[in-house]
Amino acid sequence: MASEAIIPKVIVAGSLIMDLVLRVPHHPAVGETIVGHDFRTFPGGKGANQAVAAARAGAEVQMLGRRGADEFGNDLVAFLSSAGVDTKTVSTDAGAATGVGLVAVADDGANAIIIVPGANDTLRPDALSSLAISPGDMAVAQLEIPFDTIEAFFTAGRSAGARTVLNAAPASQGADRLLHLADILVVNEVELAHFADTDVDPHDQGEVATAVRRLRAFDGQIVIVTLGAAGLTAFVDDEEFHVPGRNVRAIDTTGAGDCFAGSLAALLTQGAPLQEALHFANAAASLSVQTEGAGPSMPTRAQVDDILKQGIFWKRLVLPE
Ligand code: RIB
Repeated sequence: MASEAIIPKVIVAGSLIMDLVLRVPHHPAVGETIVGHDFRTFPGGKGANQAVAAARAGAEVQMLGRRGADEFGNDLVAFLSSAGVDTKTVSTDAGAATGVGLVAVADDGANAIIIVPGANDTLRPDALSSLAISPGDMAVAQLEIPFDTIEAFFTAGRSAGARTVLNAAPASQGADRLLHLADILVVNEVELAHFADTDVDPHDQGEVATAVRRLRAFDGQIVIVTLGAAGLTAFVDDEEFHVPGRNVRAIDTTGAGDCFAGSLAALLTQGAPLQEALHFANAAASLSVQTEGAGPSMPTRAQVDDILKQGIFWKRLVLPE
């Protein structure tokens, strides 16, 4: 009897966080009290957001994560499952609370976030023993779980024949040691500046390229720099590609970077060429900022395909050495 073909999957090792979202007219200065005009809770956490984005983009997705034995944990797992994410490797820490995030979203859509990781901090490398990684899988991580776990996950992923994607967010001290384990590194301009240890003006392609060269000294990996409304630049071998941002009205940018990373991994796992995957992820992120909340704002494959029909724009950059 012929054996069943294994479908490559996206495995996200990452955070589950319940976002407590306040809508505010502007972000308060230190010492200032302001009056907000709305409060809601939304499923979030960079890991969970990326898993949902990948699942809605049509990939098989498994989540490796940790939650507390509480209502927020139940809600997050239910949300992941309803999006089609396999949650059998989301374990429970009975002694810790599920992670929470305090998210202030200003009227222009920009956010400021404080997270308390809770159970995310006890996702240890031994959790990997419950995971089966296959050749062709995509191992995806961000920086809201212990770095030892990410290191073990990527090492195991590579030896199983998977590709690794590190969304190096949020910019964190001590995470430099993970960069060389990423086949694809995704950073925004703030994270790029942090890890390259230099100032970066996102509107200056020369500065972005110089900072990326410093990062790539770690390894010759693909580096993708997301530039918010300005789109993204991808550095692949000796070439650089810019995908312009889409002109949309952002009402909540929370999770847009997660949407990009999860959608990118989904398309690559399904065999799309890198440039097509970049386009898809860019379009997906532009849709996500038009909906409130992080997890719930991830678009479906059909929604993204629909706006991609409106056209694809590419620009090959010629940059000074
Ligand atoms: O990237 C957005 C996410 O960052 C939010 O959902 C919040 O939980 C924080 O982890």
